[in-house]
Amino acid sequence: MTLLLEDKVAFVSGAGRGIGAAAARLFAREGARVLLAARTEEQLRAVTEDIRTHGGEADFVICDLADAASVRAAVDRVVSVYGRLDVAFNNGATITPPGESTERDFDRLYQVNLRGVWLAMRAQIAAIRATAGRGAIVNNSSIGSLRGNPALPAYGAMKRAVNSLTESAAISYGPENIRINAIAPGNTRTEMIETWESTSPGLVERLIANCPLRRQAAPEEIAEAAAWLLSDRSSFVTGTVLRVDGGAGS
Ligand SMILES: NC(=O)c1ccc[n+]([C@@H]2O[C@H](COP(=O)([O-])OP(=O)(O)OC[C@H]3O[C@@H](n4cnc5c(N)ncnc54)[C@H](OP(=O)(O)O)[C@@H]3O)[C@@H](O)[C@H]2O)c1
Repeated sequence: MTLLLEDKVAFVSGAGRGIGAAAARLFAREGARVLLAARTEEQLRAVTEDIRTHGGEADFVICDLADAASVRAAVDRVVSVYGRLDVAFNNGATITPPGESTERDFDRLYQVNLRGVWLAMRAQIAAIRATAGRGAIVNNSSIGSLRGNPALPAYGAMKRAVNSLTESAAISYGPENIRINAIAPGNTRTEMIETWESTSPGLVERLIANCPLRRQAAPEEIAEAAAWLLSDRSSFVTGTVLRVDGGAGS
């Protein structure tokens, strides 16, 4: 049976830990050559070496999504290492303390979670056009983008804007057979949710109680949805924001 991402070259941001690391590992197991991007070299190196140990092909690049030149250089790097770009998972993002944001927090969320995704998509679309000619992009949004989000209002706003960018780009680039989708994960066991829990004790328990499947997701379960949307098996899906939330948004 053909692997889901056989012969594809994939770019994954935020690939040093959490959902991005799970995605990089999964994409490699599914046949992709993967370029991992984030800021923390030790984490990127560890995931890359683990992928290679298991027979996959991977490399990494240091990238700060808040820095436009760094984002462009990271996408250029995938083409210089692997000669092409087929698919990209724009997963890297940050969180700020819950409650009312400071101006500084708001600007940071804008730079990393929204402008970083926009910059990455622009560079990726140019790279796909110049090399593979067709492809797919998945942006990692959040279930918190789909309704009022009083705990994380600025985070929710940036993620909702990511949904809008996704839907618009799907219309713009669909005629070139570049599909653009987003996933909206619910409560997933990663450092991000642990950081939030540390300032809001009991958060994870409350989220689990509100989830029909009554549990957190493992990062791998979120990565599976991204892999499918990036693969040719979702060939008629574009412009969607797919909830991967155990039913919590129902
Ligand atoms: N966990 C959840 O429950 C949940 C729910 C809904 C949506 N999400 C979304 O899922 C995605 C992954 O989150 P996660 O839970 O896996 O979080 P995580 O464990 O904190 O991982 C975040 C990743 O993004 C990278 N990153 C953060 N700031 C960056 C920057 N300025 N430039 C480049 N990379 C940066 C981090 O690496 P460095 O710090 O080394 O740069 C890390 O690799 C995010 O988009 C998040 O909003 C998560």
